[in-house]
Amino acid sequence: MKIMVVGGGGREHAIIKKIKENKNVTEIFALPGNGGIAKDATCVNIGAKEIEKIAEFAVENKIDYAIVAPDDPLVLGAVDALNEKGIPCFGPKANAAIIEGSKVFSKDLMKKYNIPTAQYEVFSDAEKALEYLKTAPIPTVIKADGLALGKGVIIAMTREEAFDAVKSIMEDKVFGKSGDNIVIEEFLTGPEVSVLSFTDGKTVVPMISSMDHKRAGDNDTGLNTGGMGTVAPNPYYTEEIAKECMEKIFVPTMDAMNKEGRTFKGCLYFGLMLTENGPKVIEYNCRFGDPETQVVLPLLESDLLTVMQSVTNGTLKAEDVKFSTKNACCVIMASKGYPEKYEKGFEITIEDEVKDNVYVAGAKITDGKVVTDGGRVLGVTAVSDSLESAIKEAYKKCEKVHFENAYKRNDIGARALKALK
Ligand code: AMP
Ligand code: GLY
Repeated sequence: MKIMVVGGGGREHAIIKKIKENKNVTEIFALPGNGGIAKDATCVNIGAKEIEKIAEFAVENKIDYAIVAPDDPLVLGAVDALNEKGIPCFGPKANAAIIEGSKVFSKDLMKKYNIPTAQYEVFSDAEKALEYLKTAPIPTVIKADGLALGKGVIIAMTREEAFDAVKSIMEDKVFGKSGDNIVIEEFLTGPEVSVLSFTDGKTVVPMISSMDHKRAGDNDTGLNTGGMGTVAPNPYYTEEIAKECMEKIFVPTMDAMNKEGRTFKGCLYFGLMLTENGPKVIEYNCRFGDPETQVVLPLLESDLLTVMQSVTNGTLKAEDVKFSTKNACCVIMASKGYPEKYEKGFEITIEDEVKDNVYVAGAKITDGKVVTDGGRVLGVTAVSDSLESAIKEAYKKCEKVHFENAYKRNDIGARALKALK
């Protein structure tokens, strides 16, 4: 089978490594992939947002199955375009990817179907938003409606910050058209949990839970990033909470999308906050999380391609998706300075004994050498019997990966360990 994976980060590398375990897979193309993924797949110089080119490539190369991993192409209709050409595909169509593509859509969906989430108001007019903020409870949360490279959420701790956020999103248009509408919502507190799920629109099968670490610095300080590390499972996510989420959030969301005529097939990601008043949805993503995937898929015991195909065919069954009872930890090695300014172009060396544990996110090949080419460079994952040993091993494995100016957090999993004790 010839497989095509759209995307080029650590998440895609994790998907590709897992797909390779299937004996029927003869070739994997990554569009565009990256310098590290090139060791596991044939990288093709087509960007993830070049929908027409992606579809043409799939036809010309007789791709048997495609996986669209990032949000942008999904929201832009990559799956629709591939399906039109007869290529079976993992991922939601554009009319379902809107669950991530528009915060206004997702908030209104949750309100309409009684799915627990933060209270909110929608504004399309900056003046009205500013007027509302004069008396709104503080802290408050301001979200640009559309995709904003994961940066469209501002937690305003003061009224001033809230005014500034509205001005920069709606008047200065820092996120372009994504800021034409905004959501202003209630500030919630509690541990956060990421739950990715497979769904074919009839059945929803949650994967093992995980915990992201979004801040750049130790002890959750510093700027927000794309994610500096993950652990799975997430110790806050007990069986009891999982049951409640299934009943009040997962199944109702799948049903709601069906009722709206927007059947969701693919990976539906639930970003949850476990508040005093029960679990609430912070966000939906229409795709695998990054770097959640780098801890979730190494724990998947079932064949990923088979599960994905069952999603596409509408034959997904919970008993066909099995996870190990072990723990996983992924530590992101970034370029020093990320998420602000950083240098690139440093050679990356990965010692043989850890090459299976490394998922490359930002690298390219220059003069035959793999060099750093992004803020988040790679993730190092370890799987072990306990969370404690998984964390220890992940950090030990990081010592076998070398590039100049590397930066990592030193406390990935520490909060989870504390919660266990
Ligand atoms: P998002 O891009 O929607 O994942 O939001 C980024 C981060 O902002 C989340 O992971 C939360 O930590 C935080 N966040 C989003 N919405 C809220 C909220 N209503 N209350 C508190 N924190 C929030
Ligand atoms: N790790 C968060 C995300 O993928 O959006």
